[in-house]
Amino acid sequence: MKIAILPGDGIGPEIMAEAVRVLRALDLPGVELHDGLVGAAAWRVHGHPLPPETLALMHACDAILFGAVGDPACDGLERHLRPEQAVLGMRKELGLFANLRPAKVFPGLEAHSSLRPEVAGAIDLMIVRELNGDVYFGEKGMRTTSDGQREGYDIMSYNESEVRRIAHVAFRTALGRSGRLCSVDKANVLETSQLWRDVMIEVAADYPDVTLEHMYVDNAAMQLVRAPGKFDTIVTGNLFGDILSDQASMCVGSIGLLASASLGAEQTAFGTKGAYEPIHGSAPDIAGKGLANPVAMILSAAMMLRHSFGLEAEAARIEAAVASALNAGARGADLGGNMGTVAIGNAVLAAL
Ligand code: NAD
Ligand code: IPM
Ligand code: MN
Repeated sequence: MKIAILPGDGIGPEIMAEAVRVLRALDLPGVELHDGLVGAAAWRVHGHPLPPETLALMHACDAILFGAVGDPACDGLERHLRPEQAVLGMRKELGLFANLRPAKVFPGLEAHSSLRPEVAGAIDLMIVRELNGDVYFGEKGMRTTSDGQREGYDIMSYNESEVRRIAHVAFRTALGRSGRLCSVDKANVLETSQLWRDVMIEVAADYPDVTLEHMYVDNAAMQLVRAPGKFDTIVTGNLFGDILSDQASMCVGSIGLLASASLGAEQTAFGTKGAYEPIHGSAPDIAGKGLANPVAMILSAAMMLRHSFGLEAEAARIEAAVASALNAGARGADLGGNMGTVAIGNAVLAAL
């Protein structure tokens, strides 16, 4: 079971160290961890955020643990050299088109949500975000208009096979949960979304046990803070999913809590090949200070054990240890506490 360990930039190495300690504590036979460079860390050494040696490692491994990429020092680089291209390139090159982002309130943390505790306490949802298309991967550029102005453009599009494959993931995910699926789009304005909606309705015919509803993204953003407990499985495009998942994180208390799995069609000898990463970024404002919450990274490792290695019991064990440590007060500044990254890692290990 080969796992690529790609800490990346900013808080990436700090949170990755805790996730690796948790993985090692499980002492799973046959697990091999292989370190690699991504993001600004790779650009500094190899001149590219996703160098060929890292891409080869990604292909050679059964799963990838990905910290975070992004460095303000690189914001002026040409776009193809910026750290963020590492995560986008990985998703595209490996065909990781389905991003699962669960959001659930941990017992004891209800009062740390930006919402009232009784509203927050009801949250248990799964965002299924499409990850290989949309405005992220369309033609983009800068040009000069006929009257001499600069104009930036990014083409938004989805074709029907892209929508159909994420629809099947979403319907199957909903089947494994409460059987309710909410598709979020902007079909009142965008043709991309009209196609999205049409295909969702077509695929629904294959899943008579799932109830499909549609919601415009502006309304969904509002409903997510009004009554988030009413959502179960949400399926949406790349850009809307990016935004709604950060919003969902504060509904449960902190962006440092939300993990994700990015999956494609590739099967290994052990399960579905995937990359596992927190939904947050490199947090340059707190990097190097030992303040980052490692929980999202640790829970991403748990998702990896579940989806890529079929180790459900071990994944559940990590999740239970995290829940118990949080409930017992293992919290950093993001959750009103004063514990640092390593102390939170220690608390999770002790609970494990
Ligand atoms: P961010 O998620 O890095 O940080 C947003 C805020 O949340 C910051 O105040 C940060 O301190 C806080 N935060 C994030 N993670 C935390 C954690 N684990 N514990 C405690 N606090 C945490 O978003 P940003 O500031 O918009 O972006 C910073 C960089 O990260 C940018 O370069 C961006 O492109 C990149 N980014 C990368 C990824 C990724 O690698 N998957 C995801 C999002 C953003
Ligand atoms: C995320 C991030 C990335 C995205 C960026 C860094 C490219 O925000 O994983 O949520 O937009 O997908
Ligand atoms: Mn994001």
